[in-house]
Amino acid sequence: MAKIQTRSAVEKIVSYPLGDSPEEIKTKFNLKAIRKMSDNENVYGCSAEVKDSITKAMNSLYFYPDGTVSLLIRKIADFYNLSEDRILASNGSEEIIRLLTRAYISPGDEAVMAQITFPRYETNVVIEGGKAVSVPLRNGTHDLDAMYEKIGHKTKMVFVCNPNNPTGTIVGKDELYRFIGKIPPDILIILDEAYYEYVTSKEYLESLPLLKQYPNLIVLRTFSKIYGLAGLRVGYGIMDPEIVKELHKVKDVFNVNHLAQAAAATALADQEFVKNCSKKNAVEREFVCEKLAELNIGFFPSQTNFVYVFSQHPIAASLIANGLVVRQMKLPGYADAFRMTLGTRGDNEPVISVISELLNNKGGVR
Ligand SMILES: Cc1ncc(COP(=O)(O)O)c(C=O)c1O
Repeated sequence: MAKIQTRSAVEKIVSYPLGDSPEEIKTKFNLKAIRKMSDNENVYGCSAEVKDSITKAMNSLYFYPDGTVSLLIRKIADFYNLSEDRILASNGSEEIIRLLTRAYISPGDEAVMAQITFPRYETNVVIEGGKAVSVPLRNGTHDLDAMYEKIGHKTKMVFVCNPNNPTGTIVGKDELYRFIGKIPPDILIILDEAYYEYVTSKEYLESLPLLKQYPNLIVLRTFSKIYGLAGLRVGYGIMDPEIVKELHKVKDVFNVNHLAQAAAATALADQEFVKNCSKKNAVEREFVCEKLAELNIGFFPSQTNFVYVFSQHPIAASLIANGLVVRQMKLPGYADAFRMTLGTRGDNEPVISVISELLNNKGGVR
C-alpha cells in the first residue's frame, strides 16, 4: 500500500517511549513479580473513600459524563478559594498541555522550555507546527536566566515544570517570581505542578496567589500523582477565565469520564490521605538520597516522589533484571542515568542493595 503522507509536523515526531510492559519484563527476566518504579505513580494507592464513589457512579454509566465537570470544578474552586471560571478539568493534566498548544501555537511559533523536562511539551508544540526552544538545565534545575534570553518575537509560551520531571528539582522562589514578572503579558507562562503535593521545601513558590496579577500564568495540577488516580485520567488547569473560554473551544465535549469525575471529587476531600502520603514519601526520599550519597552515586535533589540517579557505572539494567523497574534515561557525561519512583521501604531498600552489590563486585567502581 502506498504510504499516505502525514502532515510534515507529524513526521518529525517520535512516539512516547513507554518501555516494556510489566508482563514483558516478567517474561524476559523470568520473574514472578516486579516493582513498577518507572511512572511516578503513588505507591500508597488512593484514598479508601474513592472506591465507594466509583461503585455509586457505576449506576449511571449509560449517561454521558457531565461535560461541564461541574461538581469536581466546584470542589476544586472551593478547595483553593478561587472562582470556578478559572478552572478547566481535563483528561489528565497532559490534556491541558495539548489544548494550550492547539489553541495558541501556530506554525512557526516558539515555546521555550528546559532541555530535560516533561517530553509532552515539545511533542505538542511540534504537532501544531511550532518549534521547541530547549534550554540546558543548570545542575538539574531550570536555568531561568538562560530561558529568558531565548524569549523573542516568535515566543508564544514558556513551560516551567516545577518540580521538574525527570530531575525532581525545583526553581528558587524569588528567582521564579522575578521570571514571571519579566515575561511579556502576551506570552503564556505554563507552570506544571504535577508533583506540587510532594514538595516540602520552603524555597518553593506558591503560584496560585499570582494568578490575578499575571493573567498570562497557567498552573497545571493532577490527580494522577499523589491522589493515586493515574488510571482514571483526570487533571486540571487554573488560569484566567478568558483562557479557559478559549480552551473550551478546542476540547473534546466529554473529556473527563464519569468515574474519573466522581473519584477525583472524593479524593480531593481526603486531604489526610494526601498529607500522609507526602510525609511517608519525604521519609523515603531522605532515606534513598542518604544511601545514594553514602555509595557516592550521583542524584539530583528531589522534591517529588522520584529521584533522578546518574553514575559512571551501569546500574539501571541490573535493577530492571532484578524486577526493580526504573525508567532508563540518558545524561551526557554519564554511563548511566535513570529515574526511580520512590516506593515503600520494601521497594527502596532492594534498589539500594542491588546498587551496593554492583559496586562491591566491581571493586567500588563508580
Ligand atoms: C510533569 C508532568 N506533567 C504532567 C504529567 C501528566 O500527568 P497526567 O496527564 O497523568 O495528569 C506528568 C506525568 O507524568 C508529569 O510528570
